[in-house]
Amino acid sequence: IENTDNPDKDDLLQKVRKERGYSYEDQITCSREKLPNYDDKLKMFFTEHLHADEEIRLCTDGSGYFDVRDNNDEWIRIELAKGDLIILPAGIYHRFTLDSKNYIEARRYFVGEPVWTPHNRPNDDHDARKSYLKSQGQA
Ligand code: LAC
Ligand code: NI
Repeated sequence: IENTDNPDKDDLLQKVRKERGYSYEDQITCSREKLPNYDDKLKMFFTEHLHADEEIRLCTDGSGYFDVRDNNDEWIRIELAKGDLIILPAGIYHRFTLDSKNYIEARRYFVGEPVWTPHNRPNDDHDARKSYLKSQGQA
């Protein structure tokens, strides 16, 4: 997005929110000081998993890495820094890690009541997994 200091005034973000129906929004800070159960949470984030729904994050400060599997099951590393919006499709295998700064602030968006449950790999029978593979022409 362009208005990194004031996302609420960013046209692209507001357009995406409206078009995709992101009714829910909250904020998360991943740092040892601010995130309860920091070690467990970070371990969970870095364990390869999928979700039943999209994972939508807007980085508002700090940075980190999302690793996603490509269609050959190889990792692709995506850096998320201030102003970057990432939308992971439901059913894609992924993981997240901080970088050496050990700090990220992000907004989380969701359609309706949020469900953050990770389904760790292997979870190939999950409906979201099957739909994802179909969407990639892999099933
Ligand atoms: C999550 C991440 C970070 O599930 O993948 O919240
Ligand atoms: Ni996730």
